Amino acid sequence: YAALRESTHPVQKLEALMGCYVVTRHEDIVPALRNPALFSSKTTPGGRPPEELGEDLLRYFQPGNSLLFNDPPLHTRLRTLVSRAFTPRRIADLEPRIRELASGLLDTLLAREEPDFVTDLAEPLPVIVIAEMLGIEPERREDFKRWSDAVVQSTDFSTDKQELPRMIADLRDLNAYLEGAIERRRQQPREDLISALLEAGEQEGLLAPIEVIAFTRLLLVAGNETTTNLLGNGLVALIQHPSEWEKLAADPSLIPNAIEEMLRYEPPAHAVFRETTADTELGGQVVPKGSRVMFLIAAANRDPRKFPEPDRFDITREAQGHLSFGHGIHFCLGAPLSRLEAKVAFEELFRRVRRVSFASGQEGHIDWGGSLLLRGPRSLRLR
Ligand code: HEM
Repeated sequence: YAALRESTHPVQKLEALMGCYVVTRHEDIVPALRNPALFSSKTTPGGRPPEELGEDLLRYFQPGNSLLFNDPPLHTRLRTLVSRAFTPRRIADLEPRIRELASGLLDTLLAREEPDFVTDLAEPLPVIVIAEMLGIEPERREDFKRWSDAVVQSTDFSTDKQELPRMIADLRDLNAYLEGAIERRRQQPREDLISALLEAGEQEGLLAPIEVIAFTRLLLVAGNETTTNLLGNGLVALIQHPSEWEKLAADPSLIPNAIEEMLRYEPPAHAVFRETTADTELGGQVVPKGSRVMFLIAAANRDPRKFPEPDRFDITREAQGHLSFGHGIHFCLGAPLSRLEAKVAFEELFRRVRRVSFASGQEGHIDWGGSLLLRGPRSLRLR
């Protein structure tokens, strides 16, 4: 990333990166993401060729009303709608329940001889939180986790082809479950996110049940693995920088700023994509109309013009201005939720654990998953 960013051609078309124009400097990315008229989100998402999934699933995958893959004015109307169901108040009210969940998961983790921070805490926490927000019945929680994994796998190029039939079966089961859940709530609304989305959608005639299903799928893809990565990446950074661990142990009120630094230093998602609607110039390079552009937010987060000594992990630095949640009109809808989950999880960890280190054999052997876009440890065995 640094080689690209500091080269004399900071914007380049790279065949190795799906033929995208790759942009790495903070000062080039921010104005572009503020200009959705020129840099459109109506672009093909990375991922599996949709025809592999089968006709009946396709309609769930490519609804016209996706929040992430639309521009104004439709994006503005959709965003207003879902924001009504995703209010800061609704998120803040979740804090006691998130604390209870994090604490319970930590009980299990601490009872193990060699706990795995990822599978014991970082993976289950976001899945359970979103399941409860949606109003999934507790007895369907295990199914929901499996379905949710299938949704994430369906966006990943590297999923083994032999896994496809099982993954498709899981996606069908999820859709069938959500169709039933929506029908039940249409007859009798509940106090959950599905009801809130249906209600908001019906008022404007914009979110039909099929779009509620597609939006639920977006929440799972956008929210689960990213938050898992934030927790895992954050803990790795703290273990590798004992001085920062000590600062937090001495003063947990630094945790919110430390989370911003974790996001900057080791972002859960590395890039966002756009497509140019006209010929333009970016970082001294002509980019023709219709080009796919990959904005490497992970490279911008280490841009020395924006962050002094960018490769230093410093939980007290001014980390605001990192691009890990994107920028502009598509700024992450779930940012307050994932910040809250991370704050609570690290508060509970510091309350109960004085020191932590990698289990023998773990350090230097972290499996980072190998995805081009999402980065976080798949497993993190601890002592
Ligand atoms: C958008 C990252 C957690 C829901 C985005 C974008 C990024 C991002 C970079 C912008 C995409 C673009 O501009 O094309 C993250 C990270 C997270 C996280 C790093 C965790 C640390 C969540 C959670 C949810 C969520 C927990 C929901 C439960 C969304 C949605 C959008 C979005 C719905 C689309 C917003 C729009 O298009 O207007 N996220 N996300 N995210 N995120 Fe997140």
